[in-house]
Amino acid sequence: MKKLRSHNCEQVNESLIGDTVSVSGWVQRRRDHGGVIFIDLRDASGLLQVVVDPDVTDAFAVADTVRNEHVLSVSAKVRARPEGTVNPDLPTGMVEVYASEIEVLNRAEPIPFQLDEDDVSEAVRLKYRYLDLRRENMQQIFRLRSGVTKYFRDFLEDEGFVDIETPILTRSTPEGARDYLVPSRVHAGEFFALPQSPQLFKQLLMVAGFERYYQIARCFRDEDLRADRQPEFTQLDVETSFMNEDEIMQMMEDMIAGLFREKLGVELVSPFPRMTYAESMEKYGIDRPDLRIDLTLISITDLLKDVEFKVFSGPANAPDGRVAAMLVPQGSKKLSRQQIDSYADYVANYGAKGLAYVKVNDLAKGRDGLQSPILKFLPDEVIDSIMQRIGAADGDIVFFGADKAAVVNDALAALRVKVGHDLDMASDLWAPLWVVDFPMFEKDQESQRWDSLHHPFTAPKVDQVAQLDSDPGSVLSRAYDMVLNGTEIGGGSIRIHQKDVQRTVFTVLGIDDREAEEKFGFLLEALKYGAPPHGGIAFGLDRIVAMMSGVASIRDVIAFPKTQRASCLLTEAPSVVDSRQLSDLHIRLRASAQNKAPADDTNLPADQVKTPIT
Ligand code: AMO
Ligand code: AMP
Repeated sequence: MKKLRSHNCEQVNESLIGDTVSVSGWVQRRRDHGGVIFIDLRDASGLLQVVVDPDVTDAFAVADTVRNEHVLSVSAKVRARPEGTVNPDLPTGMVEVYASEIEVLNRAEPIPFQLDEDDVSEAVRLKYRYLDLRRENMQQIFRLRSGVTKYFRDFLEDEGFVDIETPILTRSTPEGARDYLVPSRVHAGEFFALPQSPQLFKQLLMVAGFERYYQIARCFRDEDLRADRQPEFTQLDVETSFMNEDEIMQMMEDMIAGLFREKLGVELVSPFPRMTYAESMEKYGIDRPDLRIDLTLISITDLLKDVEFKVFSGPANAPDGRVAAMLVPQGSKKLSRQQIDSYADYVANYGAKGLAYVKVNDLAKGRDGLQSPILKFLPDEVIDSIMQRIGAADGDIVFFGADKAAVVNDALAALRVKVGHDLDMASDLWAPLWVVDFPMFEKDQESQRWDSLHHPFTAPKVDQVAQLDSDPGSVLSRAYDMVLNGTEIGGGSIRIHQKDVQRTVFTVLGIDDREAEEKFGFLLEALKYGAPPHGGIAFGLDRIVAMMSGVASIRDVIAFPKTQRASCLLTEAPSVVDSRQLSDLHIRLRASAQNKAPADDTNLPADQVKTPIT
């Protein structure tokens, strides 16, 4: 049997000059140069220039017919490129190969876009993903991704972690999203849930005595999709026994720092800064602040309780209200009136009812040196105290948010990042951070019930267990999130390993004994039989690789991702199934779901897809 290749393209270098090689790959480009044909042959390793001389009649006849993306096998002699034609940008740029034989292994129809085209719509890229993935930058991303998983595996294996697979067909694992359900054929009317994470299984593996577990785990969450969220995504999932939170955080920080050092040559700050949830919300309005931007929120709630201006005094006196200022140094000079107005529209997306501002022209002149639509509503001494507290200087601009704390935080946190980018304030260093001391629970405003801020298996601070019953809102958890440049890349906690504490937490969450038994009976049972103290973390692998690659969306680091409407443009999944299959699964569709005409974008040609994909 003939061998299709003796070398891959990139291996063909000066050391082989004079040798005959066989190489195989795709036609990247074919150029006709007055008789001589040049073919840039591409394989997974890179590019190689093939020269086809008209004197080599058979090879030339074949070369004359090849088009972009045809698949070829070429036998050729390696020679140095003639002077002046050397290409220093290409690893094989010193040489070329002189073809003696060319075989077309397969032809390609004209492809829907050129591989070096920049403005191909994402819908087309996703429909022809196998072509999109031929592009060099996509190939690089997936090689990086593979290197990242190898790095994690090596690191964890060296530390004694064991890679164990956990079920995909399972019960609901609560991480706060909706479940993807799979109907059971064998058990009529019953459903598996796909795991939102391997959380409960990894805890059971600690009860099983493995002490150190990891898995590159696929997780499934039916939630609103965004640039950094996919319905199925990959976690690097880790669990350990007999380690406290400081030890786990240190080890994981070393792992991430090592990754950036090895793959990007980047030295992350050491140790990673740590910030409490309370401080993060106070200063940044969010629990994953982007520390590359040096802007902070400052509370002025207490200064505005007695002013007549209701926009401020209302929230200042409400128990869940907040009035906060954000000072942008020299922003008054840099931001146009139009930009300032556009920021008011921007924060409206986050529920803010307005965006008051003060331009600081000349502080020494007091009120007259300031310019603002709200000054007339505020007495001198209040203006003075605000300016003093925020440390305003001439040329600055101050933005104000007044509302429920949640609205102010959302709006100003988003504005902070927007202004930071608009004014080019973001430093180009990487900014990692641990956020710690999260509350155990947050109140759902609609139902007025307590929800877990992380998941219900997160342990409370040891000295606050007693408060679980009396004052759950005040209890902090032993959870920690790793944040990088404003993205949450990982989150974990020490877990509850005592059955009674777990039951109490369920009670706070409104899960009574019967429901706890039904949903989590196996966990409660396992906790009876010598569960060691344990804790762990899960990293969003897609997010980490996306950040390392410098792409804006995790769709670019997932080989076959879903659109924002959770469909696959390539396979057109999800799809209708025939009634026989449904009946095997004991399922009858509601009238509204029957005879589903074109379900959504998935049935349109990719270039007619209307849904924005970002
Ligand atoms: P958590 O829900 O914080 O924790 O998830 C861990 C990390 O996974 C990433 N992530 C996502 N990435 C892409 N698309 C999504 N839809 C998505 N959702 C989450 C984030 C996040 O930090 N079982 C716990 C971990 C633990 O306690 O050990 C868990 O799943 O980067
Ligand atoms: P108004 O009295 O509603 O015209 O508002 C006066 C100024 O206060 C305008 O500049 C508004 O943008 C601003 N403003 C109104 N509501 C809020 C709010 N909730 N937070 C911050 N600024 C506000």
